[in-house]
Amino acid sequence: MLRRAGYNIFGIASEDVYIDLLTDSGTSAMSDAQWAGLMRGDESYAGGRNFFHFEETVRKIFGLPHVIPTHQGRVAENLLFSTVLEPGDIVPNNTHFDTTRANVEVNGGVALDLVIPEGREPRARHPFKGNMDLGKLERCLAENRGRVPLVMLTLTNNSGGGQPVSLENVRGVREVCSRNSVPLFLDACRFAENAWFIREREPGQAGRPVAEIVRDVFSLADGCTMSAKKDGLANIGGFLALRDEAWVEKLKNKLILIEGFPTYGGLAGRDLEAVALGLREVLQEDYLAFRVGQVTAFGEALAAAGVPVVEPIGGHAVYIDARAFAPRLPPEHYPGQALTVALYREGGIRAVEIGGVMFGKPDPKDPGREILPDLDLVRLAVPRRVYSNDHLAYVADVTARLHREPEALRGLRIVHQAPVLRHFTARFEPI
Ligand SMILES: Cc1ncc(COP(=O)(O)O)c(C=O)c1O
Repeated sequence: MLRRAGYNIFGIASEDVYIDLLTDSGTSAMSDAQWAGLMRGDESYAGGRNFFHFEETVRKIFGLPHVIPTHQGRVAENLLFSTVLEPGDIVPNNTHFDTTRANVEVNGGVALDLVIPEGREPRARHPFKGNMDLGKLERCLAENRGRVPLVMLTLTNNSGGGQPVSLENVRGVREVCSRNSVPLFLDACRFAENAWFIREREPGQAGRPVAEIVRDVFSLADGCTMSAKKDGLANIGGFLALRDEAWVEKLKNKLILIEGFPTYGGLAGRDLEAVALGLREVLQEDYLAFRVGQVTAFGEALAAAGVPVVEPIGGHAVYIDARAFAPRLPPEHYPGQALTVALYREGGIRAVEIGGVMFGKPDPKDPGREILPDLDLVRLAVPRRVYSNDHLAYVADVTARLHREPEALRGLRIVHQAPVLRHFTARFEPI
């Protein structure tokens, strides 16, 4: 199966996977209330009642007045960047997620990652490793006046290990943005998990209602992009929400062209209902305590077995430092990809590489070489409300066994790749 899939785990049928930790996106189990909501779908082309429920929910939770539904997060990114970016513009972020980076770059922009130095150190302990480096942001805005249409912050920082951003840091970023008259947008995919970490870890926030923390965070933003496939607890859906009237009209016109009428945005009415209900459910504190607690326990079991994981454990996934896991494999042999292949072969487990394959690219000055990112991570993402703790204990056992037998991992070379987002379809052969 691996050979047929070109040693790319995206090419394996889900029926042939035992524990699927490829992503936490769109893989949540919906609740009884959400399934009931699907039955109340109003499939009118315009002005369906589910849209108004969805819009009211987003306004209430995030406090952002204009709500544009999309069928998933990357369309919100596409709409935003194709509307506001001029070629050569710069977009700073703590760390761009792959679709965010791709949407900046295809629109001629430069995607800059300005996370604090601890965020690049897999073993550095910091409660908010997703924080933006405020000094670097200040310098970036000063040096590129007029060329930064917006600043983004990803909550939690998926590509950097699912690490949270503190409320204090969002305030700091807001102040830098305001001084430089640049809008601030949040990538809100995991807004509830981020707020839970603020409550658990930030001085002065303990015991505050999560919904109140979310309102505080989003009161500092001019807008957000959202994939409801994460903290919307839905299988499909997303939105762009913002304050600026002037941008809204352009965005809606583009939406009509690529997604559909502004009261359904590429979704069925029933899907809008499921998202509206999911956004409320995700703020339930017993749910969040279990959710974040389950992922933490899974990560701690791996760490206790000596597996090098990114610490502290993030909100939706455990990330393994693949260069430390397989020190004998050079980064250009993609140790992260080698580990995902070994996890499938040994345990029927599907994980995803977030490293040299996802973010590396051929060096334009020397096409035989690759420019590789600082980190090679393997992400074990935990779907919401799907697996039991025993399932995750099994994954920890298999991973620990591979760690004791490093010769089970073989380096890979790319034999086929697409020009953008190559990790989805690249084909490999073992070295
Ligand atoms: C931080 C972040 N931003 C954006 C996206 C894109 O969302 P979607 O997959 O719904 O297009 C994802 C998806 O994984 C993500 O994790």
